[in-house]
Amino acid sequence: MERISIELGNVQETLLSTLYARALETRKRNGILRDPKADEMVRRIDYDFTKFDGSPTLVPSVLRTLILDEWVRGFLSLHPLGTVVEIGTGLNSRFERVDNGRTHWLELDLPDSMDLRKRFFTESDRRRMVAASVLDDSWYGIVRELPPPYFFVSEGVLLYLREEDVRRALRQLAHGFPGCRIAFDTAGRWMVEHQGDEMFMKQIDAEYAWHCDDPGVVQRWDIGLRLAESRTLLQLPRGLRSRLPLLPRVAIAGIRAFYGRKARVYLLNLFESQPSLRASNR
Ligand SMILES: C[S@@+](CC[C@H](N)C(=O)[O-])C[C@H]1O[C@@H](n2cnc3c(N)ncnc32)[C@H](O)[C@@H]1O
Repeated sequence: MERISIELGNVQETLLSTLYARALETRKRNGILRDPKADEMVRRIDYDFTKFDGSPTLVPSVLRTLILDEWVRGFLSLHPLGTVVEIGTGLNSRFERVDNGRTHWLELDLPDSMDLRKRFFTESDRRRMVAASVLDDSWYGIVRELPPPYFFVSEGVLLYLREEDVRRALRQLAHGFPGCRIAFDTAGRWMVEHQGDEMFMKQIDAEYAWHCDDPGVVQRWDIGLRLAESRTLLQLPRGLRSRLPLLPRVAIAGIRAFYGRKARVYLLNLFESQPSLRASNR
């Protein structure tokens, strides 16, 4: 089997750790996620994934994926023909996991990440791939060719950006797509300040830049976004919790009881942009 070599920038390389987390979970007998495509990609890519073994971020990264998958499914159940836009998609096979056979889908990432992605995934009449940054709006026109409403999902991306860039990118999206939903994760100050202790961060030369202890702050930026929902990684949606095998269900309840408020250092957030916003991208 031909192994695929990679050439990625530092932040872009982080996509390999989240990919590995999904592959490892898939290999477990009682894993909480099934993602055979992730497993296949890990086997094909010429990279020492074992350096992430034992990292405490692997399972949390899978929980994050599960919660975002569930939010996307919720959106698609209300709007089966709507469009999902994955910002900083990396090698995520979310489309394979949640596709309803009718939705439109756009995947966006920086050029080197997108080049790698195109080795494994192909475009179709319902699926587009675009090499661009969330910080510019050159790709908005491509999204507008696809049917509304729009759900933007960004997993493990914004925390690598500076706060002023996050603010600009989110404002631009809120104003560019009035009435859209945007889901993304936030890491609290404690987590960002202690990132040097994290085993995964020692393996890759990338740094978290944006900390946000309270997603209400994003609403108070007054950029046209309203916080609709926020949850910790341990607050799995009810439908999802009941589908988990017994062991992970008990483990999650135990961790939740033990960590309590500390689990709030990392949050999943769902925002809605005001439908009345004028489409201005300043
Ligand atoms: C931790 S990885 C997460 C990848 C994917 N979302 C996942 O869950 O596996 C971070 C991703 O953010 C992408 N990224 C970083 N800066 C970006 C930017 N300015 N615009 C778009 N994507 C960006 C990287 O290329 C990488 O794919």
